[in-house]
Amino acid sequence: MTDFNGLAPDFLATVAGKRVLVRSDLNVPLDGGRITDDGRIRASVPTIKALAEAGARVVVTAHLGRPDGAPDPAYSLAPVAARLGELLGAPVAFASDTVGASAQETVAGLADGDVALLENVRFNAGETSKDDAVRGAFADELAALADAFVSDGFGVVHRKQASVYDVAQRLPHAMGGLVATEIDVLRRLTVEPERPYVVVLGGSKVSDKLGVIDNLLDKADKLLIGGGMVFTFLKADGLEVGKSLLEEDQLDTVREYQARAKELGVEIVLPTDIVVADSFGDEASARVVAATDIPADALGLDIGPVSGAAFAAALADAKTVFWNGPMGVFEQAAFAEGTRAVADALTRVDGLSVVGGGDSAAAVRTLGFDEAAFGHISTGGGASLEYLEGKELPGITVLEEEGA
Ligand code: 3PG
Repeated sequence: MTDFNGLAPDFLATVAGKRVLVRSDLNVPLDGGRITDDGRIRASVPTIKALAEAGARVVVTAHLGRPDGAPDPAYSLAPVAARLGELLGAPVAFASDTVGASAQETVAGLADGDVALLENVRFNAGETSKDDAVRGAFADELAALADAFVSDGFGVVHRKQASVYDVAQRLPHAMGGLVATEIDVLRRLTVEPERPYVVVLGGSKVSDKLGVIDNLLDKADKLLIGGGMVFTFLKADGLEVGKSLLEEDQLDTVREYQARAKELGVEIVLPTDIVVADSFGDEASARVVAATDIPADALGLDIGPVSGAAFAAALADAKTVFWNGPMGVFEQAAFAEGTRAVADALTRVDGLSVVGGGDSAAAVRTLGFDEAAFGHISTGGGASLEYLEGKELPGITVLEEEGA
């Protein structure tokens, strides 16, 4: 993993005895209240710990899922508070609301060095409101709980939301170590990357990756495509894809990318074999076919073994790699080998290898890889993609605003 950059020492020096509100991204997958991947909680610990050790009264705010602006027990952060406490090795006080009586009492009860977690910030309609005044009013309530703000939720810096954006305008603030590290790594992917630079894209939809393909096409040397999105590429090449995922409305865009890649001398590598099944998730019917020979009544759920080896070979001499999106339905053993082959190849990259958030980060952990073998595993899916698309991230720009 990339070194943890830490908080600015001059900011840390000011926090003893102060209430510091930290926006973390603790949006972890849950299965019936059980956390199935605690990566984002672990990534949030260093900043929280650094503040607590510096004597701050740390008040963490975060979201879980996308509740509808009102309390919903299915999205409670209570299990996350327990796990955070285990990882910190100290109890975490949990407030059963975000800015109400429980939050106020919990914060008032903190001693220097204590940590509290507020209930899901998205239980409040003001958090995600598009109306600046509504969001601002909620941010006022959040800001009233603290003396300073630390922005450490990298996964949400692309969201113009009260706990990410507006609260930074209301309190003295600093960038957290996690956000600083993430931005530093992503910058290395866009500004003079070491070559060869290989980008691996997967996941279900081409439409989610248009911006990133657009922006990286003239920076990368090779683009390897797998996952559900590959069938739109194969179809654009004139192949039949059976019942596989297909975005007909993206075919022209894909053809434009292929033409542009050719002009720029960028190689787009597509799989030559595919693991298909008769229906989604039907492991019993899984079989490997040539990409030119996908049966009309089957659907592709992973890249095949020849393609896995070819992708690994394409990554072998890379000095910079960005990977976003699994190669197949990795949650099922019959469709996990393509993702495993790419992950394994990334662990052997002699240079900077970055796993871009969300599903791919979960995949490397689920498949049992040692996280330390990767250069960097981003905690942000959408946020890392938007950064690589060249978009402005409101949660970052607000930290740089004069007088904010
Ligand atoms: C994520 O899961 O990518 C982040 O936590 C952001 O969540 P959101 O897409 O619901 O804003």
